[in-house]
Amino acid sequence: MLITKTRVLLASLTATMAVVFSASSAIAAEEVHAVIIVGAGMSGISAANKLSKAGIENILILEATNRIGGRIQKTNFAGLSVEIGASWVEGVGGPRLNPIWDMVNRLKLTTFYSNYDNISSNAYKQKGGLYEKSEAQKAFYAAQELSELIKNVSKYLKAHRQDDISILASQRLKNQVPSTPLDMAIDYIAYDYEFSEPPRVTSLKNSIPLHTFSKFGEDAYFVADSKGYESVVYFVAKQFLTTNESGEITDPRLLLNKVVNEISYSKNGVTVQTEDGSVYRAEYIMVSASIGVLQSGLINFKPDLPPWKILAMYQFDMAVYTKIFLKFPDKFWPTGNGTEFFFYAHEKRGYYTIWQQLEEEYPGANVLLVTVTDDESRRIEQQPDSDTKAEIMGVLRAMFGMNISEATDILVPRWWSDKFYRGSYSNWPIGVSRLEYDRIRAPVGRVYFTGEHTSEYFNGYVHGAYLAGVDSAKMLIRCVKHGDCCYSIPPKGS
Ligand SMILES: Cc1cc2nc3c(=O)[nH]c(=O)nc-3n(C[C@H](O)[C@H](O)[C@H](O)COP(=O)(O)OP(=O)(O)OC[C@H]3O[C@@H](n4cnc5c(N)ncnc54)[C@H](O)[C@@H]3O)c2cc1C
Ligand SMILES: *[C@@H]1O[C@H](CO)[C@@H](O)[C@H](O)[C@H]1NC(C)=O
Ligand SMILES: *[C@@H]1O[C@H](CO)[C@@H](O)[C@H](O)[C@H]1NC(C)=O
Ligand SMILES: *[C@@H]1O[C@H](CO)[C@@H](O)[C@H](O)[C@H]1NC(C)=O
Ligand SMILES: *[C@@H]1O[C@H](CO)[C@@H](O)[C@H](O)[C@H]1NC(C)=O
Ligand SMILES: *[C@@H]1O[C@H](CO)[C@@H](O)[C@H](O)[C@H]1NC(C)=O
Repeated sequence: MLITKTRVLLASLTATMAVVFSASSAIAAEEVHAVIIVGAGMSGISAANKLSKAGIENILILEATNRIGGRIQKTNFAGLSVEIGASWVEGVGGPRLNPIWDMVNRLKLTTFYSNYDNISSNAYKQKGGLYEKSEAQKAFYAAQELSELIKNVSKYLKAHRQDDISILASQRLKNQVPSTPLDMAIDYIAYDYEFSEPPRVTSLKNSIPLHTFSKFGEDAYFVADSKGYESVVYFVAKQFLTTNESGEITDPRLLLNKVVNEISYSKNGVTVQTEDGSVYRAEYIMVSASIGVLQSGLINFKPDLPPWKILAMYQFDMAVYTKIFLKFPDKFWPTGNGTEFFFYAHEKRGYYTIWQQLEEEYPGANVLLVTVTDDESRRIEQQPDSDTKAEIMGVLRAMFGMNISEATDILVPRWWSDKFYRGSYSNWPIGVSRLEYDRIRAPVGRVYFTGEHTSEYFNGYVHGAYLAGVDSAKMLIRCVKHGDCCYSIPPKGS
């Protein structure tokens, strides 16, 4: 009898559960987490770490790809470990210690100081041959002076509470718009190579001077280590996620291959749906996906985010930066001191302008790196790599002669086409005030936001992502632990 009763009980339980499961189509729906974190890049991992340390440990991290690290990613290229995402620690040698520089040193990652001092000796003309050092140097001095002038314009605008203008507009104001191939190449190296968008687009007030350089220093170190720059993300992750004996993260609070495509939120909580039909519930959610992903609509918010949020979000820019690696059977470029960076001055601004020879980083490997941005990146992502290689060989033949050997390998990362990124990093465009920027980060009810694009002073950088994670977590901790969930959105113009 007992057995039968149990059987009946079990049968009816199973039936009830089947109803529940088909209604919510998930097993995990029963558990309510304190916080769900969307994305396991530097900012999501940093936020989760901060929450854990504050005692909020019932968290769940949902990551779309099969790895953590996001836009910090190494890959194998011709037997070498190269970085297709972030490669520099930018902001070293200044008044404050960049937290990423601290991690890189603790992890003993191999880095290389990027020295641009001799770049005026390495300026190639469109049709070939080097510019006279004196001519290139003069152009660099002029660009340097112009950058000082526009720094003053920026200071003036801030001091007199004037509207923002673009970097290009400030150059116009000084009657010095770079327009020769040499001047445009130098201008490209100064601005596009940093912000991934041209001076026509980039905000003067919010980019010049740049907090990264004034707070952390002007030096940059290039990471080239087989452990990968992504080690910094693992370094933070392992502070709170459990690992097994081989040091692999095995914590059940991190789920990979989970593409969040719907976030329903109300006064009472949050329900998340992933592409595979799973449902997860939480008190709060922290979204760390890139601003490009937020703009793409990959994640459907229910109800829609409010207009003040949407308008701010869609005004910010997701820029594109593409690092193209090439391998050759031999070296036909100069190596040695003062030759790492060289550039090509073409009449088309940004056409395969900035080059790096990686002999010091990868001795004997014969590897070059050429960087393109913005429209060129989008164009190149859409064409076959063989076309890109042919264009690049054309440029190299112009620089080094017709008899150079053909590249045997090419690597063209496609961050813009990737639906989990939609570009490389955010750039501050004209037309977005501090106030509107603040709205990108502001929570909407129980939905919190983080990511490099929410960093108060360092958007676009690895340290920005890390510090944004800490700041967003602090905001949420204030709410969860101290009931201080208010985040006032001042009206425009205040
Ligand atoms: C080519 C390139 C070069 C760069 N160079 C430098 C540099 O030299 N120095 C520097 O400091 N910075 C550099 N950066 C910028 C730096 O890499 C980023 O600012 C930083 O890594 C961003 O971290 P994040 O956590 O904000 O975003 P991400 O790293 O994008 O993390 C977000 C995570 O969310 C996941 N995700 C997205 N959508 C979903 C979804 N629907 N569901 C679940 N998960 C989702 C993504 O897969 C990702 O893992 C570069 C970036 C790129 C791409
Ligand atoms: C910038 O402004 C400062 C102070 O206002 C001034 O001393 C300096 O000469 C200016 N620099 C240039 C390049 O105009
Ligand atoms: C640790 O976890 C990884 C990944 O799950 C697994 O491949 C490995 O065998 C585990 N090692 C040990 C010692 O359990
Ligand atoms: C390279 O040049 C720098 C100055 O630009 C100098 O300090 C350094 O000693 C040089 N190194 C070598 C190996 O020649
Ligand atoms: C500068 O670069 C040129 C090669 O383009 C090289 O010959 C020269 O030695 C370098 N000078 C210094 C100081 O590194
Ligand atoms: C071209 O390169 C080959 C070997 O790579 C060499 O034998 C030949 O002399 C070179 N020709 C010229 C014109 O430099």
